[in-house]
Amino acid sequence: MCGIIGYSGHRPAVPLIMDGLHRLEYRGYDSAGVAFGHYDKIKVVKAEGKLAALEEKLKSNEALLATTGIGHTRWATHGLPVERNAHPHLSQEGDIAIIHNGIIENFLEIKEQLESQGHAFVSDTDTEVLVHLIGEERKTASSLREAFARALRRARGAYAVAIISQEEPGVIYAARMSAPLLLGVGVGECFVASDIPAFLPYTREVVFLEDGEIVRVCDGQWQVWALENMAPVEKEVNHIPWDMQAAAKGGHKHFMLKEIMEQPRVVTDCLSGRIVNTDTGKRVCFPEMDALPVPERLHIVACGTSYNAGLWARQLLENIGGVPVDLDIASEFRYRDPMLRSGEMVLVISQSGETADTLAALRLAREKGCKVIGLCNVVGSSIAREAHVVLYTQAGPEISVASTKAMCSQMTLLTLLALYYGQRRNPDFSDGGLLDGLLDLPQLLEANLPSMNEKAQTLAKKFADSQDFFYLGRGQYQALAFEGALKLKEISYIHAEGYAFGEMKHGPIALISPDFPTFAFALDDDLYPKVKSNIQEVLARSGRIVALVQEQGRELGALGVEELWMLPKAHPVISSFLTLPALQLFSYQVADYLGKDVDQPRNLAKSVTVE
Ligand code: F6R
Repeated sequence: MCGIIGYSGHRPAVPLIMDGLHRLEYRGYDSAGVAFGHYDKIKVVKAEGKLAALEEKLKSNEALLATTGIGHTRWATHGLPVERNAHPHLSQEGDIAIIHNGIIENFLEIKEQLESQGHAFVSDTDTEVLVHLIGEERKTASSLREAFARALRRARGAYAVAIISQEEPGVIYAARMSAPLLLGVGVGECFVASDIPAFLPYTREVVFLEDGEIVRVCDGQWQVWALENMAPVEKEVNHIPWDMQAAAKGGHKHFMLKEIMEQPRVVTDCLSGRIVNTDTGKRVCFPEMDALPVPERLHIVACGTSYNAGLWARQLLENIGGVPVDLDIASEFRYRDPMLRSGEMVLVISQSGETADTLAALRLAREKGCKVIGLCNVVGSSIAREAHVVLYTQAGPEISVASTKAMCSQMTLLTLLALYYGQRRNPDFSDGGLLDGLLDLPQLLEANLPSMNEKAQTLAKKFADSQDFFYLGRGQYQALAFEGALKLKEISYIHAEGYAFGEMKHGPIALISPDFPTFAFALDDDLYPKVKSNIQEVLARSGRIVALVQEQGRELGALGVEELWMLPKAHPVISSFLTLPALQLFSYQVADYLGKDVDQPRNLAKSVTVE
């Protein structure tokens, strides 16, 4: 989604803002712009496309003089991704500039009213309406701060906004409602931003703003008020231990590859502190969960890859944890008036912790009196703060828009959760070697990822000219088939469909032809004989197949499977963790071979903070 950064301090603001915008690029964007004080005026420079275009324009500006400014990368929600719609936008008099992430739902109504008062707009955006409204309110308000607050009180929807003005040089006002906004506090300087990496090289001291709060920053000074009544709000300054190295590519060509290769460490970090040795053997410990009862039913709600992780875990939570599970896509759950009985709980899964639909689902569940567990990666994110209990996946920042290591960490944590519930329900619970399998997994991945990457590269060259792909699996591999298709389509733009193998003969098999290859999950588990029959059905219709196999699947070559991708033998649940990087690496190598923008695929954003 849009990236926001503002700076007020003693250094040239614009280069620092550009630096911050570069670090927010991973969120996805289609245009960018900055605003800064220029003598006694506000100057705005913006450009369509990548940040390089904006940098080019800034060369001919005297931007280095400014020590206060705001910058924005836009992901279009209202109006085309063209320069005139890019942020910052100016008020009617041109004396206030605004940047905004989110959607003002009632902007048309406000726009009509402002037009009747003589306002003229140059963009199609809701944001420009908001800054005109601030300007209009300023005519009667006693201060800019009051005008800002009044305008925000009239706006319905989601926003993280920041403004600078001619009237108060050196000052930034910012506010949030249902969109992320943070304050970075340095020595003699302050930052406002949508995300921590934007200012991490300059300060690690962070204040998390809450919905309905307004902040004023000026050099190193800052103050927060409640939007509702302008009462001052005491805020805590948090120290962030992250290091920027964690956000660099680590020698790989793309963040996506780096993040796939990081999965051994991700599993280790996710397990750390969560398995203890007792007299009766190893046990999972989640002290944060101990105060909650084992739910009578768990409703898992998430979007995209996080949803696929939830789907993958359903069977484990039911069979190992003994907890019945319902599963919903967040954008459906929030509008279907779900039945949530007492004793049931909602588990929301989100890497970013800011996905608008998932956050709305969380709030709905809370309104209905349901306890909510948040499974999140980003510390201090909205979902993490609003859930009753949060389980952090501890995967580190995920920069590539396509989610990879986050799913691995979600699957690890969900496996632990299933084991944890199993332990709590039954004192004689036995994990069947699964905990040992998890503990050995980092080493297993470490040993196999390099050769998997080579195999993926070979296969990519062979299959990259396909226009369509099926991903087919059964049992736990149904979710991985969905994920495989999602990964391939989002970064290579090849049409891909994920299906449960058993569903093929109910329609989709009509599509099978030599031009419509299949990526099959044929691992050694109880369903292997069924999968083998399904594979034969595809082969009988001249379908080409790449199959992920272990020992049993060796025989499939003789049946006509074109490519066998051998994976090592492992505990049946652990085998899923080997197929995940295989499908990720295949998508990655196809997209890279086709020369696509792997880390920032078209039309996509890392953090989907609008519905
Ligand atoms: C796919 C992808 C998306 C996200 C989805 C949910 O690669 O990244 O499908 O998984 O937008 O995002 P989070 O997990 O941040 O709620």
